[in-house]
Amino acid sequence: VQPTRIAVTPGDGIGPEVVAESVRCLEVLRSKHGLALEWKRFPWPSHAWHEEHGESWPADALEQLQQYDAILLGALGDPGPVDDPGRYLLPDSISLAPLLDMRKNFDQWVCERPARLLPGARQYLADERAKDIDMLVIRENSEGEYVSQGGRLRKGTPDEVATQMEVFTRKATDRIIRYGFEQARRRAEQRAKEGNTRSFRTLDGSTRESQVCVITKRNALRYWGDMYTEVFEEIAEEYPDVATHHELVDAACMKFVQSPWAFDVVVASNLQGDILTDLAAVLSGGMGVAPSCNLNPTDPDMPSMFEPTHGSAPDIAGQGLADPTAMLFTTARMLDWLSRKDPTLASAAKELFDAVAADLAENAGTQRGTREIGDAICKRLGD
Ligand code: IPM
Ligand code: MN
Repeated sequence: VQPTRIAVTPGDGIGPEVVAESVRCLEVLRSKHGLALEWKRFPWPSHAWHEEHGESWPADALEQLQQYDAILLGALGDPGPVDDPGRYLLPDSISLAPLLDMRKNFDQWVCERPARLLPGARQYLADERAKDIDMLVIRENSEGEYVSQGGRLRKGTPDEVATQMEVFTRKATDRIIRYGFEQARRRAEQRAKEGNTRSFRTLDGSTRESQVCVITKRNALRYWGDMYTEVFEEIAEEYPDVATHHELVDAACMKFVQSPWAFDVVVASNLQGDILTDLAAVLSGGMGVAPSCNLNPTDPDMPSMFEPTHGSAPDIAGQGLADPTAMLFTTARMLDWLSRKDPTLASAAKELFDAVAADLAENAGTQRGTREIGDAICKRLGD
Protein backbone atom coordinates (compact mmCIF):
# COMPACT_ATOMS: atom_id res chain seq x y z
CA VAL A 1 0.00 0.00 0.00
CA GLN A 2 0.91 3.63 -0.54
CA PRO A 3 1.54 5.11 2.89
CA THR A 4 -1.05 7.52 4.26
CA ARG A 5 0.55 10.93 4.59
CA ILE A 6 -0.31 13.47 7.25
CA ALA A 7 0.69 17.14 7.25
CA VAL A 8 1.26 18.17 10.85
CA THR A 9 0.81 21.90 11.44
CA PRO A 10 1.28 22.65 15.16
CA GLY A 11 0.45 26.35 14.75
CA ASP A 12 0.41 28.78 17.66
CA GLY A 13 0.18 28.91 21.44
CA ILE A 14 -0.54 25.53 22.98
CA GLY A 15 -0.82 24.00 19.48
CA PRO A 16 2.76 22.65 19.36
CA GLU A 17 2.47 21.24 22.89
CA VAL A 18 -0.71 19.24 22.28
CA VAL A 19 0.38 18.19 18.78
CA ALA A 20 3.61 16.75 20.22
CA GLU A 21 1.53 14.31 22.28
CA SER A 22 -0.48 13.29 19.20
CA VAL A 23 2.69 12.60 17.27
CA ARG A 24 4.05 10.47 20.12
CA CYS A 25 0.86 8.42 20.18
CA LEU A 26 0.98 8.02 16.40
CA GLU A 27 4.58 6.81 16.68
CA VAL A 28 3.63 4.20 19.27
CA LEU A 29 0.71 2.97 17.16
CA ARG A 30 2.78 2.91 13.99
CA SER A 31 5.61 0.84 15.40
CA LYS A 32 3.26 -1.47 17.29
CA HIS A 33 1.12 -2.32 14.26
CA GLY A 34 3.51 -1.53 11.42
CA LEU A 35 1.05 1.04 10.07
CA ALA A 36 1.77 2.57 6.66
CA LEU A 37 1.68 6.07 8.06
CA GLU A 38 3.97 9.04 7.40
CA TRP A 39 3.87 12.61 8.52
CA LYS A 40 5.71 15.85 7.98
CA ARG A 41 5.80 18.83 10.28
CA PHE A 42 5.16 22.32 8.93
CA PRO A 43 6.41 24.93 11.37
CA TRP A 44 4.50 28.00 10.39
CA PRO A 45 3.71 29.74 13.66
CA SER A 46 1.68 32.81 12.77
CA HIS A 47 3.61 35.44 14.64
CA ALA A 48 7.14 34.37 13.74
CA TRP A 49 6.20 33.67 10.15
CA HIS A 50 4.46 36.99 9.75
CA GLU A 51 7.31 38.91 11.32
CA GLU A 52 9.81 37.35 8.97
CA HIS A 53 7.81 37.15 5.75
CA GLY A 54 4.96 39.62 6.13
CA GLU A 55 2.32 37.01 5.38
CA SER A 56 0.20 34.46 7.28
CA TRP A 57 2.01 31.43 5.92
CA PRO A 58 4.05 30.49 2.81
CA ALA A 59 2.52 31.57 -0.49
CA ASP A 60 2.41 27.96 -1.69
CA ALA A 61 1.15 26.53 1.61
CA LEU A 62 -2.10 25.26 0.13
CA GLU A 63 -0.29 23.49 -2.73
CA GLN A 64 2.09 21.89 -0.24
CA LEU A 65 -0.72 20.73 2.02
CA GLN A 66 -2.79 19.37 -0.84
CA GLN A 67 -0.17 16.65 -1.34
CA TYR A 68 -1.25 15.06 1.95
CA ASP A 69 -4.16 12.80 2.91
CA ALA A 70 -4.97 14.81 6.01
CA ILE A 71 -3.90 17.87 7.96
CA LEU A 72 -3.47 17.65 11.71
CA LEU A 73 -3.64 21.17 13.08
CA GLY A 74 -2.87 22.22 16.65
CA ALA A 75 -4.34 25.70 16.93
CA LEU A 76 -4.08 29.07 15.24
CA GLY A 77 -4.29 32.55 16.71
CA ASP A 78 -1.43 34.59 18.04
CA PRO A 79 -2.01 37.84 19.86
CA GLY A 80 1.71 38.66 20.02
CA PRO A 81 4.46 38.28 22.62
CA VAL A 82 3.40 37.25 26.11
CA ASP A 83 5.73 39.81 27.72
CA ASP A 84 3.66 42.54 26.11
CA PRO A 85 0.12 41.17 26.24
CA GLY A 86 -1.59 44.50 25.82
CA ARG A 87 -0.09 44.92 22.38
CA TYR A 88 -2.13 43.12 19.81
CA LEU A 89 0.59 42.60 17.23
CA LEU A 90 -1.01 40.05 14.98
CA PRO A 91 -4.71 40.49 14.37
CA ASP A 92 -6.97 37.47 14.03
CA SER A 93 -7.53 38.41 10.41
CA ILE A 94 -3.92 37.37 9.74
CA SER A 95 -3.25 34.51 12.11
CA LEU A 96 -6.63 32.83 11.52
CA ALA A 97 -6.68 33.30 7.75
CA PRO A 98 -5.02 29.91 7.06
CA LEU A 99 -7.80 28.11 8.91
CA LEU A 100 -10.53 29.64 6.78
CA ASP A 101 -8.40 29.31 3.63
CA MET A 102 -7.97 25.59 4.19
CA ARG A 103 -11.68 25.02 4.74
CA LYS A 104 -12.49 26.94 1.59
CA ASN A 105 -9.71 25.80 -0.71
CA PHE A 106 -10.03 22.11 0.15
CA ASP A 107 -13.82 22.42 0.19
CA GLN A 108 -14.09 20.95 3.66
CA TRP A 109 -17.82 21.44 3.66
CA VAL A 110 -18.60 19.42 6.76
CA CYS A 111 -17.48 20.36 10.24
CA GLU A 112 -18.18 17.49 12.60
CA ARG A 113 -18.14 18.23 16.30
CA PRO A 114 -19.26 15.36 18.49
CA ALA A 115 -20.34 16.16 22.04
CA ARG A 116 -20.49 13.17 24.31
CA LEU A 117 -20.05 13.36 28.06
CA LEU A 118 -17.58 10.57 28.68
CA PRO A 119 -16.88 9.16 32.15
CA GLY A 120 -14.30 11.31 33.93
CA ALA A 121 -15.01 14.44 31.93
CA ARG A 122 -16.13 17.47 33.86
CA GLN A 123 -19.92 17.51 34.17
CA TYR A 124 -21.11 21.10 34.09
CA LEU A 125 -24.82 20.27 34.30
CA ALA A 126 -26.12 19.12 37.69
CA ASP A 127 -28.82 16.88 36.19
CA GLU A 128 -27.82 13.20 36.27
CA ARG A 129 -29.18 12.68 32.77
CA ALA A 130 -26.20 14.70 31.56
CA LYS A 131 -24.35 11.36 31.53
CA ASP A 132 -26.46 10.46 28.48
CA ILE A 133 -25.33 13.44 26.40
CA ASP A 134 -24.22 12.03 23.07
CA MET A 135 -24.78 14.24 20.07
CA LEU A 136 -23.04 15.01 16.84
CA VAL A 137 -23.22 18.62 15.76
CA ILE A 138 -22.68 19.02 12.04
CA ARG A 139 -21.77 22.53 11.04
CA GLU A 140 -22.13 23.63 7.42
CA ASN A 141 -18.57 24.69 6.72
CA SER A 142 -18.52 26.16 3.21
CA GLU A 143 -20.84 29.14 2.98
CA GLY A 144 -23.62 30.85 4.91
CA GLU A 145 -22.46 33.65 7.17
CA TYR A 146 -18.78 32.94 6.38
CA VAL A 147 -18.74 33.90 2.69
CA SER A 148 -16.93 37.12 3.54
CA GLN A 149 -18.94 39.32 1.20
CA GLY A 150 -19.79 42.86 2.13
CA GLY A 151 -17.91 45.95 3.04
CA ARG A 152 -17.72 49.22 4.87
CA LEU A 153 -19.25 52.28 3.30
CA ARG A 154 -18.16 55.76 4.38
CA LYS A 155 -15.55 54.06 6.54
CA GLY A 156 -14.63 55.86 9.74
CA THR A 157 -17.31 58.53 9.38
CA PRO A 158 -20.35 58.89 11.66
CA ASP A 159 -22.43 57.67 8.71
CA GLU A 160 -20.51 54.46 8.25
CA VAL A 161 -22.48 51.39 7.19
CA ALA A 162 -21.01 47.89 7.39
CA THR A 163 -22.66 45.13 5.42
CA GLN A 164 -21.99 41.42 5.77
CA MET A 165 -23.75 39.11 3.37
CA GLU A 166 -24.94 35.56 4.04
CA VAL A 167 -25.20 33.14 1.13
CA PHE A 168 -27.05 29.83 1.21
CA THR A 169 -27.22 27.60 -1.85
CA ARG A 170 -29.56 24.68 -2.37
CA LYS A 171 -26.62 22.44 -3.34
CA ALA A 172 -24.74 23.09 -0.09
CA THR A 173 -27.93 22.84 1.94
CA ASP A 174 -28.85 19.55 0.31
CA ARG A 175 -25.46 17.95 0.85
CA ILE A 176 -25.12 18.98 4.50
CA ILE A 177 -28.62 17.84 5.48
CA ARG A 178 -28.16 14.58 3.58
CA TYR A 179 -24.86 14.10 5.38
CA GLY A 180 -26.73 14.58 8.66
CA PHE A 181 -29.19 11.82 7.81
CA GLU A 182 -26.40 9.47 6.78
CA GLN A 183 -24.62 10.06 10.09
CA ALA A 184 -27.86 9.52 12.00
CA ARG A 185 -28.23 6.13 10.34
CA ARG A 186 -24.62 5.24 11.00
CA ARG A 187 -24.93 6.16 14.65
CA ALA A 188 -28.11 4.10 15.05
CA GLU A 189 -26.37 1.09 13.47
CA GLN A 190 -23.40 1.55 15.77
CA ARG A 191 -25.63 1.78 18.84
CA ALA A 192 -27.56 -1.31 17.76
CA LYS A 193 -24.25 -3.20 17.55
CA GLU A 194 -23.40 -2.08 21.07
CA GLY A 195 -26.87 -3.05 22.29
CA ASN A 196 -27.55 0.49 23.39
CA THR A 197 -30.51 1.80 21.41
CA ARG A 198 -32.03 5.25 21.83
CA SER A 199 -35.50 6.40 21.03
CA PHE A 200 -36.59 9.70 19.46
CA ARG A 201 -40.12 10.90 18.88
CA THR A 202 -40.89 11.99 15.37
CA LEU A 203 -43.61 14.35 14.12
CA ASP A 204 -46.52 11.85 14.06
CA GLY A 205 -45.76 10.80 17.65
CA SER A 206 -44.14 7.47 16.79
CA THR A 207 -40.50 6.75 17.61
CA ARG A 208 -37.29 6.18 15.67
CA GLU A 209 -33.81 5.01 16.67
CA SER A 210 -32.04 8.14 15.46
CA GLN A 211 -32.84 11.78 14.87
CA VAL A 212 -31.76 14.75 12.79
CA CYS A 213 -32.49 18.16 14.21
CA VAL A 214 -32.04 21.06 11.81
CA ILE A 215 -31.39 24.50 13.30
CA THR A 216 -32.45 27.75 11.63
CA LYS A 217 -33.72 31.16 12.59
CA ARG A 218 -36.55 30.93 10.08
CA ASN A 219 -38.91 33.15 12.06
CA ALA A 220 -36.62 36.11 11.36
CA LEU A 221 -34.18 35.02 8.61
CA ARG A 222 -36.91 33.87 6.28
CA TYR A 223 -35.19 33.15 2.99
CA TRP A 224 -32.59 30.67 3.99
CA GLY A 225 -34.76 29.41 6.82
CA ASP A 226 -37.52 28.49 4.39
CA MET A 227 -35.11 26.88 1.96
CA TYR A 228 -33.53 24.81 4.73
CA THR A 229 -36.98 23.68 5.85
CA GLU A 230 -38.02 22.67 2.33
CA VAL A 231 -34.82 20.77 1.64
CA PHE A 232 -35.04 19.08 5.04
CA GLU A 233 -38.60 17.88 4.32
CA GLU A 234 -37.63 16.61 0.87
CA ILE A 235 -34.65 14.63 2.09
CA ALA A 236 -36.47 13.33 5.16
CA GLU A 237 -38.77 11.35 2.87
CA GLU A 238 -35.79 9.29 1.80
CA TYR A 239 -34.98 8.47 5.43
CA PRO A 240 -38.23 7.27 7.01
CA ASP A 241 -36.17 5.43 9.65
CA VAL A 242 -34.81 8.71 11.07
CA ALA A 243 -36.86 11.05 13.26
CA THR A 244 -36.89 14.70 12.19
CA HIS A 245 -36.86 17.71 14.41
CA HIS A 246 -36.38 21.45 14.00
CA GLU A 247 -35.32 24.11 16.48
CA LEU A 248 -34.84 27.83 16.16
CA VAL A 249 -31.30 28.63 17.16
CA ASP A 250 -32.23 30.63 20.26
CA ALA A 251 -34.50 27.86 21.54
CA ALA A 252 -31.79 25.32 20.65
CA CYS A 253 -29.38 27.13 23.01
CA MET A 254 -31.93 26.82 25.77
CA LYS A 255 -32.58 23.14 25.07
CA PHE A 256 -28.88 22.33 24.81
CA VAL A 257 -28.71 23.34 28.48
CA GLN A 258 -32.13 22.07 29.59
CA SER A 259 -32.18 18.66 27.92
CA PRO A 260 -29.11 18.07 25.74
CA TRP A 261 -29.54 14.28 26.08
CA ALA A 262 -32.57 14.56 23.80
CA PHE A 263 -30.42 15.41 20.74
CA ASP A 264 -28.77 13.00 18.35
CA VAL A 265 -27.54 14.61 15.11
CA VAL A 266 -27.81 18.39 14.86
CA VAL A 267 -27.30 20.23 11.56
CA ALA A 268 -26.61 23.95 11.72
CA SER A 269 -25.40 26.76 9.49
CA ASN A 270 -21.79 27.92 9.58
CA LEU A 271 -22.12 30.66 12.22
CA GLN A 272 -24.96 29.13 14.20
CA GLY A 273 -23.00 25.87 14.21
CA ASP A 274 -19.90 27.72 15.37
CA ILE A 275 -21.77 29.16 18.34
CA LEU A 276 -23.65 25.97 19.20
CA THR A 277 -20.47 23.88 19.17
CA ASP A 278 -18.79 25.97 21.86
CA LEU A 279 -21.87 25.33 23.95
CA ALA A 280 -21.85 21.65 23.01
CA ALA A 281 -18.16 21.43 23.93
CA VAL A 282 -18.95 22.59 27.45
CA LEU A 283 -21.74 20.00 27.69
CA SER A 284 -19.19 17.30 26.92
CA GLY A 285 -16.66 18.42 29.51
CA GLY A 286 -15.15 21.60 28.12
CA MET A 287 -12.68 22.69 25.50
CA GLY A 288 -10.05 20.33 26.90
CA VAL A 289 -11.88 17.32 25.49
CA ALA A 290 -13.78 18.56 22.40
CA PRO A 291 -12.61 17.26 18.99
CA SER A 292 -13.38 18.78 15.60
CA CYS A 293 -13.05 17.60 12.00
CA ASN A 294 -13.25 19.64 8.80
CA LEU A 295 -14.13 17.13 6.13
CA ASN A 296 -14.40 16.92 2.40
CA PRO A 297 -16.36 13.68 1.96
CA THR A 298 -16.75 14.08 -1.82
CA ASP A 299 -13.31 14.73 -3.31
CA PRO A 300 -10.65 12.16 -2.38
CA ASP A 301 -7.91 14.45 -3.71
CA MET A 302 -8.66 17.08 -1.11
CA PRO A 303 -7.22 16.67 2.38
CA SER A 304 -9.52 16.94 5.36
CA MET A 305 -8.32 18.90 8.38
CA PHE A 306 -8.44 17.87 12.01
CA GLU A 307 -8.08 20.34 14.86
CA PRO A 308 -9.51 20.44 18.35
CA THR A 309 -12.37 22.88 18.93
CA HIS A 310 -10.16 24.85 21.33
CA GLY A 311 -7.97 27.75 20.31
CA SER A 312 -4.31 28.56 20.91
CA ALA A 313 -4.84 29.61 24.57
CA PRO A 314 -1.92 32.11 24.63
CA ASP A 315 -2.44 32.66 28.36
CA ILE A 316 -1.20 29.16 29.22
CA ALA A 317 1.06 28.53 26.21
CA GLY A 318 4.59 27.26 26.75
CA GLN A 319 3.94 26.05 30.28
CA GLY A 320 3.06 22.42 29.64
CA LEU A 321 -0.37 22.95 31.17
CA ALA A 322 -2.62 22.40 28.17
CA ASP A 323 -4.79 19.29 28.18
CA PRO A 324 -3.95 17.24 25.05
CA THR A 325 -7.14 15.16 25.39
CA ALA A 326 -9.12 17.09 22.74
CA MET A 327 -6.18 16.88 20.34
CA LEU A 328 -5.89 13.13 20.95
CA PHE A 329 -9.61 12.51 20.42
CA THR A 330 -9.28 14.56 17.24
CA THR A 331 -6.33 12.39 16.16
CA ALA A 332 -8.40 9.26 16.75
CA ARG A 333 -11.12 10.66 14.51
CA MET A 334 -8.50 11.48 11.89
CA LEU A 335 -7.30 7.86 11.87
CA ASP A 336 -10.89 6.69 11.59
CA TRP A 337 -11.45 9.03 8.64
CA LEU A 338 -8.25 7.83 6.97
CA SER A 339 -9.36 4.23 7.37
CA ARG A 340 -11.60 4.85 4.36
CA LYS A 341 -8.43 4.61 2.30
CA ASP A 342 -6.42 2.23 4.49
CA PRO A 343 -8.75 -0.06 6.51
CA THR A 344 -5.90 -1.13 8.82
CA LEU A 345 -6.12 2.31 10.45
CA ALA A 346 -9.62 1.65 11.81
CA SER A 347 -8.45 -0.47 14.72
CA ALA A 348 -5.68 2.01 15.54
CA ALA A 349 -8.32 4.74 15.67
CA LYS A 350 -10.39 2.72 18.10
CA GLU A 351 -7.36 1.82 20.17
CA LEU A 352 -6.40 5.48 20.51
CA PHE A 353 -9.94 6.56 21.34
CA ASP A 354 -10.27 3.82 23.96
CA ALA A 355 -6.91 4.70 25.53
CA VAL A 356 -7.76 8.41 25.78
CA ALA A 357 -11.24 7.64 27.13
CA ALA A 358 -9.84 5.20 29.71
CA ASP A 359 -7.24 7.75 30.79
CA LEU A 360 -9.98 10.34 31.20
CA ALA A 361 -12.17 7.97 33.19
CA GLU A 362 -9.40 7.03 35.59
CA ASN A 363 -8.09 10.50 36.24
CA ALA A 364 -11.26 12.49 36.83
CA GLY A 365 -10.52 15.78 38.54
CA THR A 366 -6.75 15.36 38.76
CA GLN A 367 -4.36 18.15 37.79
CA ARG A 368 -1.89 16.84 35.25
CA GLY A 369 0.39 18.49 32.74
CA THR A 370 0.39 18.01 28.98
CA ARG A 371 3.32 15.62 29.01
CA GLU A 372 2.05 13.61 31.94
CA ILE A 373 -1.25 12.93 30.19
CA GLY A 374 0.57 12.07 26.95
CA ASP A 375 2.90 9.69 28.85
CA ALA A 376 -0.02 7.90 30.49
CA ILE A 377 -1.79 7.42 27.16
CA CYS A 378 1.34 6.25 25.33
CA LYS A 379 1.90 3.76 28.11
CA ARG A 380 -1.64 2.49 27.76
CA LEU A 381 -1.02 2.05 24.05
CA GLY A 382 1.85 -0.24 24.99
CA ASP A 383 4.85 2.06 24.81
C1 IPM B 1 -13.82 27.56 15.08
C2 IPM B 1 -13.29 28.94 15.27
C3 IPM B 1 -13.14 29.66 13.94
C4 IPM B 1 -14.51 29.75 13.30
C5 IPM B 1 -12.50 31.03 14.05
C6 IPM B 1 -11.17 30.95 14.72
C7 IPM B 1 -12.42 31.74 12.74
O1 IPM B 1 -14.09 29.64 16.16
O2 IPM B 1 -13.18 26.75 14.37
O3 IPM B 1 -14.88 27.23 15.63
O4 IPM B 1 -15.26 30.69 13.57
O5 IPM B 1 -14.84 28.89 12.51
MN1 MN C 1 -15.67 28.46 17.06
